[in-house]
Amino acid sequence: MLITFEGIDGAGKSTQIRKLQKLLAGKKCEPIVLREPGGTEIAEKIRHILLESRHDISPVGELLLFSASRAELVQQVILPAIAEGKTVILDRFFDSTTAYQGYGRGLDAEMLQSIIRLSTFSLRPDVTFYLDISPEDALLRKFSEKSLPLAFDENELDRMERSGSDFYRRVREGYRRIIEKEKNRFVVLDALDDPEKLHKAIVASLGERFPAFSAIGKS
Ligand code: TYD
Repeated sequence: MLITFEGIDGAGKSTQIRKLQKLLAGKKCEPIVLREPGGTEIAEKIRHILLESRHDISPVGELLLFSASRAELVQQVILPAIAEGKTVILDRFFDSTTAYQGYGRGLDAEMLQSIIRLSTFSLRPDVTFYLDISPEDALLRKFSEKSLPLAFDENELDRMERSGSDFYRRVREGYRRIIEKEKNRFVVLDALDDPEKLHKAIVASLGERFPAFSAIGKS
């Protein structure tokens, strides 16, 4: 089973993933938790190039690097885990590519879909939790978490985060369109809701969708 989380930077995915991981620990569906980009030695190196680098990377180069990292993670870690019947929770998957490289950077949708098929070996999530937040609120949250003054310092941002608020508005709109096309796969949540309320909604929705989760959270 593959559960993915999506949303723009600062939506609070990691908090929700941590809560879910804690709840499922020691249970039959105890998950393997992974994030993209990263998760294998090579994929972590690619992550470093993508996020920490001070160099400009072209949109196509960026797409191929994210995709290379994904292919490593899917083939080496995710597919074997799923074949063993394990639950995998993944912080970002190909919807991030459609939203960020497609809608954000403006790369061609059809070309993107073929590269996604190639890099995922056609693997698709069973359910995707999307945490919706405006770029403005996401930035506010990021800086308040770090207790930084709101006069923001570009050096605190990674390479993607330095793409600016218009970019993030396009990414958010991209997610909206992706969800529109695949309503059944997505569970859309308001990222500004209380984290505990969000956690309960996530657990409830897993219980409704999958028998393996129906008893979880009730005990
Ligand atoms: P990360 O620090 O993991 O951010 P977050 O906590 O927001 O998930 O950084 C991942 C960044 O890479 C994030 O800005 C989204 C971006 N990204 C893409 O642009 N395309 C992709 O395919 C993936 C997986 C991530």
